[in-house]
Amino acid sequence: MKSVFDPTVETREVVMKCPRAGDLLKNYRIDYVRNGSQPIGEAIKEQNLNSGDVMNELNILYEKNKDHQRGMTKWEKQKVNALIQYIIDAHHSYLYMVLPKLQDMITNIFNKYVGTHPELSHVHYLFSILKIELEQHILIEEELIFPKILAYEKKPTLNALIDIKEFVDDLKREHEHIGQFLKDLRELTNDYKAPEDACDTYRLAYVKLDELESDLFQHLHLENNVLFPRVIG
Ligand SMILES: [Fe+2]
Ligand SMILES: [Fe+2]
Repeated sequence: MKSVFDPTVETREVVMKCPRAGDLLKNYRIDYVRNGSQPIGEAIKEQNLNSGDVMNELNILYEKNKDHQRGMTKWEKQKVNALIQYIIDAHHSYLYMVLPKLQDMITNIFNKYVGTHPELSHVHYLFSILKIELEQHILIEEELIFPKILAYEKKPTLNALIDIKEFVDDLKREHEHIGQFLKDLRELTNDYKAPEDACDTYRLAYVKLDELESDLFQHLHLENNVLFPRVIG
């Protein structure tokens, strides 16, 4: 049987064909959002992983899930307005809900443990900035850029396209920045491993931060690798 993925396939292609591979790549620290055009073989090498083993794992995952995936929405084939609505409903709504809760939890554990776990002061600082950036970012998408894209879909003009391209470049830069925050938070928290003496809130905060990272990876992947190329090529 021929394998669906070989080492030359771009990382974003892997996740588009097999959405479940997103979590696997995340666990291997392979960034399919910011480095979506990187060949998977190269990304595996960079992480000092065994190429044969990881390629095998990806191909098995694809085979196991391909029937299920057939029933899943292939966003690259859907209308742009449906994709935008999905991003807002699934990912932006999640952020509106989870960011304030996480802020409370992180402030709480920062106050309680900063004496014994001083890295929490940096975690608190980084998360607070990330929260502000994300809230502004999704608001600008919803209020300004998504409406421009929807208007362009209805009436495409060269001027509108040039305008959208500039905004999309800004959004991509912000995605880079968000990705860097996530990387720093993961390092600071020792891969979101709560220490032995952590209370339930501390543990839950790290679980929720890990979930936030997974959701943001899927969210930014849909924008960078599916939505934006659909609109600006
Ligand atoms: Fe977004
Ligand atoms: Fe975005």
